[in-house]
Amino acid sequence: MIEIKKDFPLKSRNTFGLDVNARFFVEASKADKISFSLNYASYYNLPIMVLGGGSNILFTKNYEGLIIHPLIQGIEITDDAQQSITVRVGAGITWDSLVEWSVSRGYGGLENLSFIPGDVGASPIQNIGAYGVEAKDSIVKVEGLNIITKKMIEFTNAECLFDYRYSIFKGELRHRVIITHVHFKLSKSPTLTTHYGNLDEEIEKLEEKSIKTVREAVINIRRRKLPDPAEIGNAGSFFKNPVVKASNFESIQSKFDKVPSYPAAENNVKIPAGWLIEQCGWKGKQIGNCGVHKDQALVIVNLGNATGKEILDLAHQIQKSVVDQFGIELEMEVNVV
Ligand code: EPU
Repeated sequence: MIEIKKDFPLKSRNTFGLDVNARFFVEASKADKISFSLNYASYYNLPIMVLGGGSNILFTKNYEGLIIHPLIQGIEITDDAQQSITVRVGAGITWDSLVEWSVSRGYGGLENLSFIPGDVGASPIQNIGAYGVEAKDSIVKVEGLNIITKKMIEFTNAECLFDYRYSIFKGELRHRVIITHVHFKLSKSPTLTTHYGNLDEEIEKLEEKSIKTVREAVINIRRRKLPDPAEIGNAGSFFKNPVVKASNFESIQSKFDKVPSYPAAENNVKIPAGWLIEQCGWKGKQIGNCGVHKDQALVIVNLGNATGKEILDLAHQIQKSVVDQFGIELEMEVNVV
């Protein structure tokens, strides 16, 4: 049995806490239930959308179609080797419960990605990343359903075309695949990545250096800097960190000698968007019902009953001032619907 709900409220299903509805909404615990939902949508000629944890989405209006929420569960060890294990994880598993599962069993690779909101099925789409690690470093395979052919398909890591906050599922195959399972290879003798920002410093406050303390330290930093969506609506980083040409970076550096940066591919430089936004005077600013977070300028917050349109309008104002001051176009990380 599968229940398709009508005029379904999405307020608790998006971390911005926006008060919008889906014309139809279905929770699918198995791939065949997703197929059924797709057939239903085709029959009634409805557009479809997949919604995971709702932590990277900005609804600007009601969704006039069918929203499919994959609930596929299960963490299954498919290979147990001397140095590593491979797990096949259902798209509906909460991301952080997977990280918790792996860290508590001594399997390394995901600890830096602790406390990221959202579901496992969304992790390959934008290749979630934090503290020097990205999901792509552990993903070996992605399984999904092709929305057009309704056939199951698999992608190796290389076929996913992963890049910074990018994969084929955001590019050529955008809205074409519903991810059902993700396979991760985790290490039994993990190498820790702790050089990023103040992570090392934070770990030093704890007893030892292990995947457990990396997880603890990351959670401490995130709790300090990022607003809890349960208290203040937000979707984490609203923009991507822009990659600029070295020459462009040097000209910014000549005016702001403290500009933070990271090396990027092809001699380019990545500048934290949070820094650019802060320089433009946005940090902690409130505009109507929304604003820019006081501790992390990359995060736009819903301070009450903001609408998606108000938030989008604020985002456009921020983009404009960063272009005016630095000549850099910030690209949104959040998906606008
Ligand atoms: N910075 C400022 N002002 C701010 C925010 C940041 O000057 O208001 C500067 C900081 O001083 C620091 C640098 O920017 O030098 C980097 O800041 P931070 O370590 O907080 O990371 P970020 O680049 O702003 C990225 C990810 C986050 C991830 C952190 C940690 C993107 C778009 N965001 O943020 O991801 O948690 O690194 O690795 O790449 C998310 O995607 O939702 C997310 C939270």
